[in-house]
Amino acid sequence: MGADGIESSPKLASRRRVLMHIIVCKGCCCGVTEKRKPPVPVEWLKQEWRNRRLSPSVTLTVSEGCLGPCDLANVVCITSPHGVVWLGQIELHLHYERLVDWAESVARTDALLPLPSDFDSHRFDRFRSPSFEFQKNKGTVSYKTSQEQAFAGEVPVVQS
Ligand code: FES
Repeated sequence: MGADGIESSPKLASRRRVLMHIIVCKGCCCGVTEKRKPPVPVEWLKQEWRNRRLSPSVTLTVSEGCLGPCDLANVVCITSPHGVVWLGQIELHLHYERLVDWAESVARTDALLPLPSDFDSHRFDRFRSPSFEFQKNKGTVSYKTSQEQAFAGEVPVVQS
């Protein structure tokens, strides 16, 4: 980790690199019908992944650990070289079908195709703005809270 943030160049190389990784939450809330959450079709998803041979390009992980934002269950997290996309309130089997169809299209074309617009209303931001921002100042790194920056008339910035 660099002194100016969590971004840094990778130092290791995995032989198991993929195009995309889809993490479907099945933790303490997602898919727990006893808590009146819609089911997560875990076995169906795994079977589809096998039948369509998606794994070499697109990895599926069903997380039995909570991903965090239970208030938006059911949650799916998609990571790729384009970044991270969080989806919430994935409630219908049709949602999972669309997700698998899209994953298959990505795998077949070997291209990061846009997420279907069906999911536009399911996207959410997982992260809030930090209270502290890093600022480079002629070789030194200083920390100011957002309040201090606002007081000084500065716009909070994130620099790498
Ligand atoms: S159980 Fe899925 S986000 Fe908490």
